[in-house]
Amino acid sequence: MIFVDNNLDGYAGRDKANGAKMTSLSGALFFFLIFCRTELISAQLKYSTLEEVKVGAVIGNVAKDLGLDVSMLSSRRFRIVSGADGALFEVNTNNGVLFVQKNIDREQLCDGNAACFTDLKIVVENPLEVHYVTVEIIDANDHAPSFAEKEKVIEIAESTAPGARFQLPGARDPDAGINAVQRYKMSQNEHFNLEIRDRGEDKIPLLVLQRQLDREQNRNHSLILTAKDGGTPPRSANLNITIKVLDNNDNRPTFSEDIYSVTLQENAAINTYITQVKATDLDEGFNGNIEFAFGGDVNPDVLKLFSLDKQKGEIRVIGLIDYETANVYNLDVQASDKGTPPMTTDCRVIIKVQDVNDNKPEIEITSLSSMIPEDSKPGTVVALISVKDSDSGLNGKVVCRLPENIPFDLKPSFKENMYSLITKETLDRESVSHYDILLTATDCGEPPLSTLKTLSIQVSDVNDNAPTFLHSPLELYLIENNTPGGSIFYVSASDRDLNENAVVSYRLVKGEGGHTDMTSFLNIHAENGQISALKSFDFESLKTFQFQVVATDSGAPSLSSNVT
Ligand SMILES: *[C@@H]1O[C@H](CO)[C@@H](O)[C@H](O)[C@H]1NC(C)=O
Ligand SMILES: *[C@@H]1O[C@H](CO)[C@@H](O)[C@H](O)[C@H]1NC(C)=O
Repeated sequence: MIFVDNNLDGYAGRDKANGAKMTSLSGALFFFLIFCRTELISAQLKYSTLEEVKVGAVIGNVAKDLGLDVSMLSSRRFRIVSGADGALFEVNTNNGVLFVQKNIDREQLCDGNAACFTDLKIVVENPLEVHYVTVEIIDANDHAPSFAEKEKVIEIAESTAPGARFQLPGARDPDAGINAVQRYKMSQNEHFNLEIRDRGEDKIPLLVLQRQLDREQNRNHSLILTAKDGGTPPRSANLNITIKVLDNNDNRPTFSEDIYSVTLQENAAINTYITQVKATDLDEGFNGNIEFAFGGDVNPDVLKLFSLDKQKGEIRVIGLIDYETANVYNLDVQASDKGTPPMTTDCRVIIKVQDVNDNKPEIEITSLSSMIPEDSKPGTVVALISVKDSDSGLNGKVVCRLPENIPFDLKPSFKENMYSLITKETLDRESVSHYDILLTATDCGEPPLSTLKTLSIQVSDVNDNAPTFLHSPLELYLIENNTPGGSIFYVSASDRDLNENAVVSYRLVKGEGGHTDMTSFLNIHAENGQISALKSFDFESLKTFQFQVVATDSGAPSLSSNVT
């Protein structure tokens, strides 16, 4: 058994001699076996060639390698007789060279990665010799890796923890050995690494999440996976990978302001627009869909005054806004997304109510006494008056007035909006016994509002009038021979005072006993002033006489006056 090993140079040298270009052939070896049989000489040769070499390229000189006489080849019918792929090769009967007759595609010939051989049977006759020639087809890098798909979309939730792995499609390369896919590479990026797992012959590329994704920062990532074979030069293929980041409800709604401060006129009409709260949520879909609601601890009474549109965030008036009830409202408004679970944020809406002059001043009177003596000194306090107004500012401020022509005055007290009603001068019951004092309280709003109140004052009597006789002196004519004891005259005094101050009693002023002192013959009724004569008068002895009557009232002290 002889084994022959040719080095590359030697082989290449022969190729050059035959005009074939086989520069990429890495080596060739052949050997032959000679079976020493009586009827048959048999040998086996082995060659190798790259696939895809030019038609005509020389594989080797079979005749020479078998030690055949080249000049006899034709006459001995040197030829290839069989071989599944015999048509790929042919021998030259002139020189014994085995050459390529058809394009050799290793991948077509031998599917798969294993070494690829074709067997040929070469015969010469006289004597008959059968030789077996094996040609190994060596792989050339005639295929690039390729991905089945043009683009790959991978959906990854933004909550996914770093370390998670996602299998990527591998590239196929029909070439064998080093010419098959050797390496994968991932384009530069912040979030992913590439990991290669060997699974038998195949290499499986895996995407490894390195840093958590944030959809709100970047909703998709474009990566390029490159598969490279080991040929010289290497060939490669790219696969575009799009990472779609799926939303998680990881963002709260955000209000455009923490505190919304607005003013609202009291008595604002129902449905008056007050303000609109606005919020955004970076998440998408339900996670970013916002609804508004009043915070849980808003006073139920307040909810009867304001409405909140849960979609638009508009706040409107739905009740009576009364400054005097509350001049400021603090509403907590919550924005909630519809994620599972939802996320919420609160804001504060401060509604300051502006006063409108909608309240009249109020007057409160504290009467010290409903009666005031007519002899009260000027400056006597009759009543205490306080005024107030529930409105604020100028709408509160109140001015109190009295009519001009009355003997009373208002004296401001040390306390604001408190007055004393005092007498301005001495009163006279006998002129005016009763006053209805009209108090006017007016605020300084625009327009001003007023309140009127009447205070009744009774002037009480003081015994300041003496009884008075209508005429003085009084003259009366008495007819002589009158009946003793009979009524001769009435005197009457009137008193402008009241009650006992006006109750008049009469008496006679006793004379000194002079010759015309007739008082001992006269009698007067104390209560009605009836004067009666106790004796009968005689014109001839007494023509005229005088006497005095005193009228006294019952006041304390009493007052009296005389009439003659
Ligand atoms: C990736 O995001 C951009 C905007 O950030 C968008 O225009 C584009 O359509 C997205 N691509 C895919 C595949 O979602
Ligand atoms: C792949 O991505 C590159 C740029 O990143 C782009 O030019 C090319 O058109 C993409 N190919 C496909 C098939 O989407």
